[in-house]
Amino acid sequence: MNIIDQFISYFESNHHTNISSSSLLPEGDTSVLLTTAGMQQLKPYYLGKPSPYGNRVVSVQKCVRVDDIEEVGDNTHNTFFEMLGNFSFQYPDGEGSYFKQEAIRYGYEFIAEILGLSIDYVTIFAGDETSPRDTESYSIWKQLAQEKGVELEIREYGREDNFWGPTGSEGPCGPTTEIYVNDVEIWNIVFNQFYASPTGELNRLESQGVDTGGGFERILTHCEGVETVYDTSLFRSTMSLIRESIPGKDEAVYRMILDHTRASLFLIADGVVPSNKEQGYILRRPIRKVLSVLHKNESGMEILSDISDSLRQLYSQRYPELQTSATIYKSLIAEEYGLFSDALKRGMKHANKILRKKRVPHISGEEAFLLSSTYGLSPEVMRLNGLAFDENEFEQKKDTHKEISRAGVQKKFGGHGLLLDNGEMKAANEEELVSATKLHSATHLLNTALRTVFPEAIIEQKGSDITADRLRFDFSFERKLTSEEFQQVQELVNQYIDNALEVQIRELSLAEAQKTGALYMSNRNYPDPVTVYSFGDVSQELCGGPHVKNTREIGHIRLKKQEAVSRGVRRIRAILE
Ligand code: ALA
Repeated sequence: MNIIDQFISYFESNHHTNISSSSLLPEGDTSVLLTTAGMQQLKPYYLGKPSPYGNRVVSVQKCVRVDDIEEVGDNTHNTFFEMLGNFSFQYPDGEGSYFKQEAIRYGYEFIAEILGLSIDYVTIFAGDETSPRDTESYSIWKQLAQEKGVELEIREYGREDNFWGPTGSEGPCGPTTEIYVNDVEIWNIVFNQFYASPTGELNRLESQGVDTGGGFERILTHCEGVETVYDTSLFRSTMSLIRESIPGKDEAVYRMILDHTRASLFLIADGVVPSNKEQGYILRRPIRKVLSVLHKNESGMEILSDISDSLRQLYSQRYPELQTSATIYKSLIAEEYGLFSDALKRGMKHANKILRKKRVPHISGEEAFLLSSTYGLSPEVMRLNGLAFDENEFEQKKDTHKEISRAGVQKKFGGHGLLLDNGEMKAANEEELVSATKLHSATHLLNTALRTVFPEAIIEQKGSDITADRLRFDFSFERKLTSEEFQQVQELVNQYIDNALEVQIRELSLAEAQKTGALYMSNRNYPDPVTVYSFGDVSQELCGGPHVKNTREIGHIRLKKQEAVSRGVRRIRAILE
């Protein structure tokens, strides 16, 4: 029997209901972007909602974790993985529920007796100011070792190692006890005793629960006695295929390709589409990393298709969604490939231009940061393309840029109030922010369109106010626009949009920025350094953003209304079509 079957059948024989993995896109839980643990679909049952599956549950859950994405390629890190877990709710009153005694026994028996792994040591929570030492688990382990006639070393660790959760900003959490094999944590039992609020405060839960997690790939590695997951029987043939298709690379690159392709397949199968935001960005990064290795190879796309077929074959019996999404996967990758090669070509051309002027074969962190933000190339993609840069300076620039954006007065009140209010733009949530961002970019284009339609007039921005529903733009102009002119301005804006202009961001000192000829408002205070947004060569403005990445994201706009604000100042309102 394979490990997954052994796992399910052991827990079924202990009266657990086997439930299917939930999607990688968490349902009804906005505190996280992706499913990172088996307990995520079960959160409500720790909080008192009756579980439709009873109080004992077992599952194998698809998970994606990207915190350590840069480490992938080493012996241990994976982005996608399957988590084996057993769960108990509503202890002590719920029917069939259990807590530390059974959870520890089940963990021990599954790891040591069913799988036959030799346990190095176990750990318990040593206690801290928020939660006491877990003496109960300590005695349970002692007793169990005696009953089983084995020696078990019990180590005590602090909060960092032996306290888990919550996933996302709030949720159940608690002390853990963990099983180590070959000095690697292989089984983690969380005793959900607390609810962590978004501010980090811990409140005791009315009833307790158990949440267990064991990474399947890690367990498999130890069961097979191999060094890494890539050497297991699961991946052996896919790894050979990758090595043979792209000879001459480092082993870490082959591992990255397997890991990232697997994660992309599963994310796309659950409906994620590459983009510059949230889950879409989590997906875009691994795809682009893989593409940055494969794009140099003439048959790169066929190679990727073979690799994904091979992975699909390993999983589609248990995850049929991989099969049904095969066509979508193919077209999304093809589209991403087009966008990526384009950006990469232009980015590298620009980089080479900079390099030609230098005596050293690398560029500064600042130059790399500008390349990265202008062309959407992540640092790892630049590295994989052989571009050397000052990594420390790059990080510094990134942090400064974050601060500048924050200075745009981003306010987050845990779902209340406004997500963004920077004086010009207001948005209450992510969805509104998307519309407001499009309208903001449309405002820049409108500013240019007015100057183009009226080359003789001195058009100056006098005000701008943007919500998710409309833009409102005030500008200096002496008279009412005729309906032909009004129409003409609208058409010109839409034409700019249709030209799919790439939006570029540069960070310059205020003085330099003003010298570039970019538009700015003379009566406004700008930060120094300041960001300059350019839309192709149509528009350049000093601005804190946010903006779309490409004007075609805007769709189309319609000019709704014009009015006079005061003598010499006109106002135009426009909406997204
Ligand atoms: N939820 C716990 C983990 O993810 C078991 O490690």
